[in-house]
Amino acid sequence: MPIPKAELHLHIEGTLEPELAFALAERNGVQLPYATTDELRRAYSFTDLQSFLDLYYALMAVLRTEDDFADLADAYLARAAGQGVRHAEIFFDPQAHTARGVDIGTVIEGLARALDRSEERHGITTQLILCFLRDESAESALDTLKAAAPYLHHLSAVGLDSAEVGNPPSKFREVYEAAAEAGLRRVAHAGEEGPPSYIWEALDILGVQRVDHGIRCVEDPALVARLVRDRIPLTVCPLSNVRLRCVDTLADHPLPRMLDAGLLVTVSSDDPAYFGGYAGDNFDAVRHALPLDEDALRTLARNSFLAAFLDADEARRAA
Ligand code: ADE
Ligand code: ZN
Repeated sequence: MPIPKAELHLHIEGTLEPELAFALAERNGVQLPYATTDELRRAYSFTDLQSFLDLYYALMAVLRTEDDFADLADAYLARAAGQGVRHAEIFFDPQAHTARGVDIGTVIEGLARALDRSEERHGITTQLILCFLRDESAESALDTLKAAAPYLHHLSAVGLDSAEVGNPPSKFREVYEAAAEAGLRRVAHAGEEGPPSYIWEALDILGVQRVDHGIRCVEDPALVARLVRDRIPLTVCPLSNVRLRCVDTLADHPLPRMLDAGLLVTVSSDDPAYFGGYAGDNFDAVRHALPLDEDALRTLARNSFLAAFLDADEARRAA
């Protein structure tokens, strides 16, 4: 029985497995530049975040209808249930779809259809987090939040993702203020490839309640002290960090140091179809590669519920 856990860093578009990509391509009459699933899988040799993002955005061409988004999310939830996931807070990238002419309502209603029946079908409670693409403009982020206004009841938070370096959190001050006013919680990717100063900005300028990745905080002791003091959770994605070469090998991953420092770290999967594993696979990988005992693994699982946007009763029920 896999240990019960909450998945807090999961891009739904990053769960698009090659088999489903080909099935959706056929359903929608979209031509993929790969002949077979094996050929597509061979393209998964990334050298950094951007080389991954290029393929990640290209493959989204197969996602066109509400059914596509519902099928994608349902397939993810079925897999996650098999890996002990009891609660999932799921990112999506609306701008990557609206830029291709897919309406934001199609995206959100499709995802929401799968999420609404997830507890009954898969035993997983869910929340949805709208992410802004940080390599797009601040105006585009504001337009996206406006376009999402009719669907706010489906959303629990906003996030910030895509190409980090050169796109600091401060660029998105205004849209985060608007999101807070709309009653949404705030998270942001920071300190994945970008410097510790981006984590400071996410905290002090965007007011985030959780940091995605955040692994580069270990370079700045004052930042670590701040994150510990304020109990700010960090959603760490070990397999992703290795595949995108943010760390050299799993054995070099700073996760044990982060736990020892008293940080509220969780283990998540980021883009599991691309990085070799879902939430349980990430737990298994760190268990084998790092000096973490059963106690540390239980702490990581417990942290995932503490860091979730659940009240105490909901967290107890989910765990
Ligand atoms: N979008 C999907 N995965 C991402 C990652 N690891 N970092 C930034 N943006 C992303
Ligand atoms: Zn991510």
